[in-house]
Amino acid sequence: MQESAELLGHRYRFVPAPRAGRETARRPVLLLLHGTGGDEADLLPLGELLLPGAPLLSPRGTVSEQGAARFFRRLAPGVFDVDDLIQRTHALADFVQAAVERHGVAGRPVVAVGYSNGANIAASLLLLRPGLLAGAVLWRAMVPLEPEPLPDLTGTPVLLGAARFDPMIPNDNVEWLAALLRESGASVTLRWQDTGHGLTQADVREAAAWLATLWTDEESTQ
Ligand code: MLT
Repeated sequence: MQESAELLGHRYRFVPAPRAGRETARRPVLLLLHGTGGDEADLLPLGELLLPGAPLLSPRGTVSEQGAARFFRRLAPGVFDVDDLIQRTHALADFVQAAVERHGVAGRPVVAVGYSNGANIAASLLLLRPGLLAGAVLWRAMVPLEPEPLPDLTGTPVLLGAARFDPMIPNDNVEWLAALLRESGASVTLRWQDTGHGLTQADVREAAAWLATLWTDEESTQ
């Protein structure tokens, strides 16, 4: 397991592509964003399953909520400190740009894979820093904020992995997020699981298939 490193105030791990062979040279960097209370090691095993051969960049959230790492402050469950969210979204975007330079993968697209709090900041990255992410898998995300005007996300693929019985996220909040992203031009795939807030194997299978369609079929035809 790689050591954690630090850059622009973010602790993180970077796992390079196994070998920059022809078939993996165009794989995107997966930006792995953990849920509340997780850390930079959490999603690495999943990242390796999701898109084998992709470099992995996994930062730890810079906020501590009674010891639980998060990517931005909240006032209560589901009620966000929007000023803090905006500031930390830009700081995370700057970190991503610096980290891909540092690790020699600046030419590759960056695709976020976030769960819960990590999915919420990934949605915020899409909305506030268009152009940074080439796509995103958002598991159990909600609307983080509503920018005015909406960004131009034309053609950006986004997979929303939602849960019908999520006690933290009302179904209509997920529909609202899908609508905001679609209105911004993103190509949104919304998938519902009959489950709660926790991640399931079905979520992972679905995301792996979605990523493979977008980022491996394309390679094999070129
Ligand atoms: C959030 O704060 O981002 C959401 O409520 C999800 C969570 O992290 O619990």
